[in-house]
Amino acid sequence: MSGQIPIVEGRGICKGFAGVWTHLVLDHIDITLFPGEIHALLGENGAGKTVLANILSGFYTLTEGQIFVEGKPVVFKSPRDGLRHGIGMVHQELALVGPFTLAENIAIGLPSLDLKWPIPEIEERLRALFEKFKLRVDLKAKIEDLSAGEQQKAEILKVLFHQPRVLILDEPTSLISQETQQFFKILREMADSGLSILFITHKIEEALAVSDRITVLRLGKHMGTVKTTQTNEAELISLMFGEYTPPQLERKKTPSKEVVLEVQNLSALNSKGEVALKDVSFAIRKGEILGIAGIAGNGQSELVEVITGLRKAIKGKVIINNQDYTNAHPRKIIEAGVAHIPEKRREIGVVEQMPVAENVVLKDIGEAPFSKGSFLRIGAITKHAKKIVRKFDALVPDLWHSQTRILSGGNIQRLLLARETWKKPTLLVAAYPTHGLDAKAISRTWRLFMDLREEGVAILLVSEDLDEIFSLSDRIGVMFEGRLITVIDREETDKNTIAFLMTSGSFQKKQK
Ligand SMILES: Nc1ncnc2c1ncn2[C@@H]1O[C@H](COP(=O)(O)OP(=O)(O)O)[C@@H](O)[C@H]1O
Ligand SMILES: [Mg+2]
Repeated sequence: MSGQIPIVEGRGICKGFAGVWTHLVLDHIDITLFPGEIHALLGENGAGKTVLANILSGFYTLTEGQIFVEGKPVVFKSPRDGLRHGIGMVHQELALVGPFTLAENIAIGLPSLDLKWPIPEIEERLRALFEKFKLRVDLKAKIEDLSAGEQQKAEILKVLFHQPRVLILDEPTSLISQETQQFFKILREMADSGLSILFITHKIEEALAVSDRITVLRLGKHMGTVKTTQTNEAELISLMFGEYTPPQLERKKTPSKEVVLEVQNLSALNSKGEVALKDVSFAIRKGEILGIAGIAGNGQSELVEVITGLRKAIKGKVIINNQDYTNAHPRKIIEAGVAHIPEKRREIGVVEQMPVAENVVLKDIGEAPFSKGSFLRIGAITKHAKKIVRKFDALVPDLWHSQTRILSGGNIQRLLLARETWKKPTLLVAAYPTHGLDAKAISRTWRLFMDLREEGVAILLVSEDLDEIFSLSDRIGVMFEGRLITVIDREETDKNTIAFLMTSGSFQKKQK
């Protein structure tokens, strides 16, 4: 490739979004795309891959830096400018209009001067593309009637229709999950025909399988560009995550005999007034993690809400440290030492209009050291909030001048985890605690839960993620249609069994 001129080059690309972050979302990124190469753009969620792709294809303007096409500086004001220079992007979310066919979608998208393109001619050109690239969709079908994989093919064909020289694919997950090998072969043939492909993914194995070179981004920074044949998984992991190895989760202590939470024959209605929690009973001991697996919507939310006082039980009891807390006020339950990481972070986890600092101490704001009499002690709150933000790597523009509303879901979750655990609760009720976090934050959260367990905290962990359930739980329960259908020691079961229970509600295959 040396000596060759890249079709596209981005040099020192920076992007900031007005008023939102004090840091750059992209911070001096360099990237070159050569004809005939498949270039993987690899990075965790939030690394900046999509933003970079949008800049290279003209959807976003850049804050600083320069794009070159065949060595000449260019300025893209719109995606049409990108396409005119031969750069086409297939977005992660499908963009075609459902009630129309692919050819009709292409006709709608053409500049009005090009309306002379009749549908049959568009279809003819598409058929030629089918032959050339071995990508086919039903031309008579409406987009909405195609499968997810076919819809993604249609998106790609729509971009190919414009005869790009660079094809950017932002996490084409439907095609990868359905027909990986075949899809990668097609991409290779496209590249062999001279096309340059920028393939965006957060999965190392995909980058290794499909590409000639790999550019790694981490939190908006360019960590390096490597030849695929000269790298390996270990190097890519350290580029993606820094000098970071996931912690070993070991359990030293066994749970004590002391029961912290006991739930007896609990039933509750959902918001539609239907019985959504049916006669559920279990106990959690000090230093024990009980994982509740289940597909969301099988009564887990109602269970968590009844335990934390946010929903009334219509039957049964909630006993915490041998005292009856059934239908007690949420404040009383907090005072009993129950921490809650709710599923609905923004609605009930934080007060979105409040500054970040106040949210960090929300549950203790009226108490020392954060208040004295009726006055807030700003210094003490700031000190504590700073410590927490640093410990959990939350990206917060300003503790006092930013409303919590503007934080990303991942950052709100980091603050909630910190707030709910720093005081060492008696019982931690956690619903989907790592949902939306990146791999590093997930393993840090798991580590935190294991540490709390070792310190004797009882934990109710509701999750859909079986890796999480199996990494953390001492015992595993499965909820199905409002019932707790089993509770079993982790060592006595396996992921397949639990997955089967989650979807069928029974140990036996149903008779047809
Ligand atoms: N329109 C926007 N306004 C403000 N911030 C944004 C916008 N789009 C993306 N971001 C932020 O930029 C960062 C990178 O996002 P993105 O490029 O979508 O990541 P990736 O595709 O690697 O998962 C994230 O922190 C995201 O919150
Ligand atoms: Mg993305």
